[in-house]
This record gives sequence, C-alpha cells and structure tokens, in this order.
Amino acid sequence: MRQGDPVLWTILLCAALAGGARAADGEGEPASAAAIRDRAAQAEADPALQSRLLQLGRKVAVVCAHCHGAHGIAARPDAPILTAQKRAYLLEQLQQFADGRRRDPLMEEVMGNMSVDEMVGAVLFFSAQPLRRPAGPPPAFSADAGSAGRPPAPGTSTAAAR
Ligand code: HEC
Repeated sequence: MRQGDPVLWTILLCAALAGGARAADGEGEPASAAAIRDRAAQAEADPALQSRLLQLGRKVAVVCAHCHGAHGIAARPDAPILTAQKRAYLLEQLQQFADGRRRDPLMEEVMGNMSVDEMVGAVLFFSAQPLRRPAGPPPAFSADAGSAGRPPAPGTSTAAAR
C-alpha cells in the first residue's frame, strides 16, 4: 500500500461515512478522555451494552485496519499491533490521544472522526481478536519500511518519537 495523503483521505472518508451511521444512532458525543473512561466502565458493568459496542467496534475496525492491520500485523511500519492487546492498555492510549498527553497527527485526525462508543467498541473488538502470525519468515528490520515508503522512526511506539 502506498502511503500518503490520498490514503489518509480515503480512510477519513470512510470514517465520515461511519459517522453518518453514528449520527443516526444518536451517539455523536465527542471523545474526551473522561468520556472514554466512563463509557468503558459502563460497558464493563453492562453485558448488553458491551455486546452492542463490540458490534460497533467490529465495523469501526475496518477503518483502523488500514493502518493497524486486520488480524495481527500492522499495515504500516509505524502503526502498532492492536490485535490481542490488553483492553486497559488500548483504552489508556486512546485517552492519552484524546487529551493530548500522547501526540500523533494520524491518530489525532482519526479520533476527531470517532465517537466515544466507537472508540470503546474498537478496544473491545481488537482486544478480543486472536493474534495469528502470518506464514513465512519474520520481517526484516527494514523490509516493512521499504514497502511503506518511509522508514520507521526510532521508538515509534512512543509519542516522543515525533
Ligand atoms: C491513518 C493511519 C491510522 C489509522 C486509520 C488508525 N491509526 Fe491508530 N495509530 C496510528 C499510528 C501511526 C500510531 C502510532 C502513533 C505513535 O507513534 O505514537 C497509532 C497508534 C494507536 C494506538 C496506540 C497503540 C499502542 O500500542 O501504543 C491505538 C490504541 C490506536 N492507534 C487505535 C486506533 C483505532 C481504534 C483506530 C480506528 C478507529 C485507529 N487507531 C486508526 C495510525 C492510525
């Protein structure tokens, strides 16, 4: 996949379409860190809500998968694997993006188009997916970077890298 603005715009268009469905559901609340945390706590205590958000997350994950990969291995060298990650960790990172403690232009753009329910749903979805290693040898340090058009920055999993 070639990286660059056209790709991001396609993704954001998808996000906008998902946003249209969200508005119809009456779930257009903007994602603040506190709102994400509170909604996750509600979902933890309410199995019916949790399964509803999980279904929403399954749809939203199609957008996330453009960068983070569908079933394990991220499509971009600078995007972390979300699949099978711990819920608490994913939730914490989204809260940090939401309140600016963690900064990343791509994720800030993505989150600007997502509701609280979609964020919590994506966490529920990705954390529940099994991690499946693709067949073949493990990727070289630089192989993924070459195909994506830009090298991975050192320490790309931390906000300080940018
Ligand atoms: C346009 C590409 C792109 C899309 C689409 C995208 N992300 Fe990301 N995401 C990134 C990048 C790049 C990072 C790493 C940021 C950094 O280096 O700090 C990241 C980081 C994250 C992290 C932190 C993970 C960790 O291990 O620290 C989470 C959680 C996350 N994204 C969730 C999502 C969710 C949920 C979606 C879908 C709603 C999504 N992302 C869509 C590019 C993207």
